[in-house]
Amino acid sequence: TVVRDNSAAVSCEVAAEIAALIREKAAAGEKAVLGLATGSTPKGVYRELIRMHREEGLSFKNVVTFNLDEYYPMPVDHLQSYVRYMNEQLFDHVDIDRESVHVPDGTLEAREVAGFCAAYERKIAGYGGLDLQILGIGRTGHIGFNEPGSGEESLTRMIWLDEITRQDASGDFFRLENVPHRAITMGVGTIMNAKRVIMMAYGVAKASVIKRAIEGKVTSEVAASFLQGHENAVVYVDRAAAGH
Ligand code: GLP
Repeated sequence: TVVRDNSAAVSCEVAAEIAALIREKAAAGEKAVLGLATGSTPKGVYRELIRMHREEGLSFKNVVTFNLDEYYPMPVDHLQSYVRYMNEQLFDHVDIDRESVHVPDGTLEAREVAGFCAAYERKIAGYGGLDLQILGIGRTGHIGFNEPGSGEESLTRMIWLDEITRQDASGDFFRLENVPHRAITMGVGTIMNAKRVIMMAYGVAKASVIKRAIEGKVTSEVAASFLQGHENAVVYVDRAAAGH
């Protein structure tokens, strides 16, 4: 665990690590396979990556991305869609090839979801797995949308959102009734298979779940606690999130 004064300091450090990975892979003629997250937490990282693209010539031509999750159902052009979020926060501002971008598909028919999820796992594996996964954490301890009950071996699948998660999302959706009840998410196992994991959390509202995730027992009741067993994971927090 690394404590920094504020989220801006963390964002710069994490973006620098991502940029170093992208450049190292490019120099070797390889792709950098990134697992990306949404929510308010990683926005500063994306902002810094865009700055590096504009000012330092950081190219995303050798970058392949897989997003953690998407609400279900969710049309791509909706205000709350994670496809739209990623376009606005990062993809529209850098030189990434659109065929290299993967976000779980919230527009599928229910009967298509299982096949889509299996194909998502195969695609990640086809690139040799995720080089680096970035994560936020929900107040339920979720990473991606792995709500309490998500096992260590779980893979990409449809889940039911916890009521606490739906309440936390109700601001984005203007009212609780508008928040979907389901989502498609990478599993805990998908995330644990990443070669490197960086989780970030800011603010006093995350202090108690951060304590449970980092110092509590490893349990499927707090999916983030499984990261205690990952051999190359780091958690960046600001002072408020470290408060407990
Ligand atoms: C959502 C996302 C998670 C994210 C969490 C925290 O539930 N699916 O991936 O970590 O929100 O959001 P925030 O970063 O806004 O606190």
